[in-house]
Amino acid sequence: MRGLLLRSVRLMRPVEGSALEAVDLLLQNGRVEEMGCGISPPAGTVVVEREGCVVAPAFLDLHTHLREPGQPWKERIATATAAAAAGGFGAVCAMANLRPPVDSVARLRECLAKNRSWERVPVLQFAAVSEQLAGQRLAPLRELADAGAAGFSDDGRNALGQELLRQALERAGAAGLTVAIHPEDEEVLAAANPWGGEDPTSWLLRPREAEVSAVRSALDALRSSGQGRLHLQHLSTSESVELLREAKRDGLAVTAEVTAHHLVLEGPLKDPEARDRELTCNPPLRGDADRSALWEGLADGTIDALASDHAPHESPSDPLQRRSPGFSGVQAQLSAVLSDPRGGPLLERVVAALTARPLAVLGPLSGSLPEPSVREGQPAHLTVFDPEGVWRPEPGSWLSLGTNSPFWERPLRGLVLATFSRGRVAFLRRELGWETELA
Ligand code: DOR
Repeated sequence: MRGLLLRSVRLMRPVEGSALEAVDLLLQNGRVEEMGCGISPPAGTVVVEREGCVVAPAFLDLHTHLREPGQPWKERIATATAAAAAGGFGAVCAMANLRPPVDSVARLRECLAKNRSWERVPVLQFAAVSEQLAGQRLAPLRELADAGAAGFSDDGRNALGQELLRQALERAGAAGLTVAIHPEDEEVLAAANPWGGEDPTSWLLRPREAEVSAVRSALDALRSSGQGRLHLQHLSTSESVELLREAKRDGLAVTAEVTAHHLVLEGPLKDPEARDRELTCNPPLRGDADRSALWEGLADGTIDALASDHAPHESPSDPLQRRSPGFSGVQAQLSAVLSDPRGGPLLERVVAALTARPLAVLGPLSGSLPEPSVREGQPAHLTVFDPEGVWRPEPGSWLSLGTNSPFWERPLRGLVLATFSRGRVAFLRRELGWETELA
């Protein structure tokens, strides 16, 4: 077996909240064989010394849309998880809004089997909170938990009323699982789009009040349930961050995520003429004050996780009416954040928000993934990246089938060099020539 010796790297330790400088790491037989200084490589080992190289526990994405089964022309399990590995992720959580949604045990079993056959990195499959994501009746949460659901979310929709969410929190909580919500109030959206049509995912006007109202209502549901864990997906407004901060201060069991695109990209569109060339996402991109609040929430730990909301869709060159909202983004998460002047100085926070913090969001289930810490004798579950390395999302480098990325063909800083997941090589940047047979 050809092992890999990484010389003199910076080792991030998100659990301890610190980093070790100039560490040698010997990876062999699927494990971290040795850690220290001046390690002598066994014969045949690939030795790598690259200035500024960082090693961190493998990232976990709380929010990935695989699209398969259901819409394999948009994305496949194999391509989404390969893109995730190339973005530094050693595992992803798959959302339930497949066609049809994952709202029954039979459907969940089908997904689990398919994921296992095609995944490059482990997929933790979420199930729907409500049948058909329609918010009228709860899915069989207990049975779904027993059958292996990793958590619950109707993401893409938020039709659940406060009372049903309260019950969902209780039932999921009793099974040890988290309920995640897409906080946009569908009544507020409907009022803002009187011509809105049938499909609430495509309504164009999505006022901030929709998010604020949904966050408030979900926190009230959590308060009245008195049990269970609530996770708020893709926050985008300053009011949401403040409500979250207060709720945490009150001791509520709530966590939240932000996406790289809501942090670094500015909205709303400045040029309405450009609308049909622009990509959109739900919730929409916001202005400067909101983005500053999101950065602040990430910096002070109010926001727990950075999640991709990887949403592969039609090509950006398709007409607007045929495009669905969302960005294909799992491969560019780290780089998009590090390319922003506010991202680099927060590297330790960013790494925690990609590793230990999202793992904690999942609760006891996180026991099925390795500890977010790189230690001697443990299976290699880690990411190697160069925070200063530059790359461009383009056909030769992009592994998702979805090219609907706002970062497409833009130079990005933060280059993932390798990802190891549960002792296996999940991604190696080919041009480095580090061919290794770790496992
Ligand atoms: O923009 C989005 N797209 N936001 C979501 O919450 C869902 C996602 C999708 O499934 O396409």
